[in-house]
Amino acid sequence: MSAPGIDPKLYRDAMARYAGHVQIVTTAHEGVRRGVTITAACSVSDSPAMVLVCLNRHNASNDIFAESGVFALNTLAAHHKGLADAFAGFAKLPVEERFAMGEWDELVTGAPTLKDAIAAYDCRIVDTKSVSTHNIFFGEVVGLRLGSKDQSLVYMDRSYHAI
Ligand SMILES: Cc1cc2nc3c(=O)[nH]c(=O)nc-3n(C[C@H](O)[C@H](O)[C@H](O)COP(=O)(O)O)c2cc1C
Repeated sequence: MSAPGIDPKLYRDAMARYAGHVQIVTTAHEGVRRGVTITAACSVSDSPAMVLVCLNRHNASNDIFAESGVFALNTLAAHHKGLADAFAGFAKLPVEERFAMGEWDELVTGAPTLKDAIAAYDCRIVDTKSVSTHNIFFGEVVGLRLGSKDQSLVYMDRSYHAI
């Protein structure tokens, strides 16, 4: 416990105990593609089918999500660890080299969908909230593909796990 505010390091240590499914959220706009490795995503409702994703709005490269008005949420399997690293920007690869590490297609909106994702949710953005450092995009699912039930890629205790 601490007051008046929670110490940021304590908060990060607590969140490190939170197991989050690793996903890549993608979009495309005017011939430019963008993908970001995230764990901050969850279901909002099943009728209509809706998910939300949280993206750092201090990274100008994320502006394209608001500009396109669409995103695809690609749920990763354990064997996608290299892709997760690439789309987290660890090796600072150019964007098309990141995409070249996987096979992609499109469902409805034109946002890139990973062909062998465990699941791919293709979404139109129906609402956006800017809170603190992040934009929260609410996406109505307009296309959905279930892949094979491979082991999931999960991030916890500051490292990847397969479950
Ligand atoms: C496991 C993991 C989870 C992440 N979760 C998020 C997230 O939920 N939201 C976010 O904005 N960034 C998240 N990031 C950071 C972004 O992946 C990273 O800042 C971004 O891809 C940098 O891309 P750039 O080099 O193209 O700017 C996460 C990174 C990792 C490794």
